[in-house]
Amino acid sequence: MRLKGAVVVVTGASSGIGAASAIAFARAGARLELGARRLDRLGAVAERCRAAGSPAVNVRLLDVGERASARTFIAAAKRDHERLDILVNNAGVGWRGALHEMPEEKVDELIATNLKGVINTTQSVLPWMLERRRGVIINVASVVGFRPAPYSAVYSATKHAIVGLSHALRGELSGTGVKVCVVYPGVTAGTEFFKDPDRPVGWQYPASWVANLIVRTARYPRRDAMVFPLRLAHLAEPVFGGLMDHALGEIRRRDLPD
Ligand SMILES: NC(=O)c1ccc[n+]([C@@H]2O[C@H](COP(=O)([O-])OP(=O)(O)OC[C@H]3O[C@@H](n4cnc5c(N)ncnc54)[C@H](OP(=O)(O)O)[C@@H]3O)[C@@H](O)[C@H]2O)c1
Repeated sequence: MRLKGAVVVVTGASSGIGAASAIAFARAGARLELGARRLDRLGAVAERCRAAGSPAVNVRLLDVGERASARTFIAAAKRDHERLDILVNNAGVGWRGALHEMPEEKVDELIATNLKGVINTTQSVLPWMLERRRGVIINVASVVGFRPAPYSAVYSATKHAIVGLSHALRGELSGTGVKVCVVYPGVTAGTEFFKDPDRPVGWQYPASWVANLIVRTARYPRRDAMVFPLRLAHLAEPVFGGLMDHALGEIRRRDLPD
């Protein structure tokens, strides 16, 4: 899709990958509709997007897990431009620890944000995209969407769910002109995703790399978008998956407090 002048909606644009994606779309000349719960942070990102070249940037309060909030947000974005070309479902939250110790409210929050949030915005946007027979929906999953991470069981489950939802919807929409894509970031620096003491060590992708991958996917939509080393892990998963479950469990147990 041509990005100059395209209307791009980014959820969870107040920090990390969402903010970096908004700025990368701005550089390509896209018009932006940005949503998240922290309006002050969104305002700062919007300033950077205008400076980067976006001809129009609007920010609005959005809680993706609340159906009414998602519907209102998407309807307002549509009112601004009379069309929506690209939806980036990026908002997401994580939680790390043993499943049996995970508080119920955290389980609910992860499912509401990471899964129901994507359903809420996608259902809101689809009728308009279908009417115009044009649109790209990009769902930000994770490497844990195909390689589950021990001690992040519910997070892994929500990201697997996003992959299933996206691939099924892709088939549902074939021939309509609306494309569905999944992006699988690995561990990404420059985000607020990991809270101390969970901050991972070792090599991390810069958020700008993931943002550029998202922009490339919008330009040339494809089913699954991942950087090369993760593609190898994806191919290896059916063969080494069982072994990886135990190896990663062992590695993560060493990191966790007793
Ligand atoms: N960082 C990584 O290593 C990594 C790896 C793989 C995948 N991912 C995925 O990448 C996406 C972005 O995460 P990030 O790494 O950029 O982390 P981040 O810096 O914590 O950003 C998360 C964004 O989601 C927003 N958000 C959270 N709950 C929301 C809600 N209910 N409604 C609307 N917005 C909400 C946050 O904004 P507010 O708090 O202002 O609402 C924030 O803008 C997530 O889907 C995450 O699962 C991240």
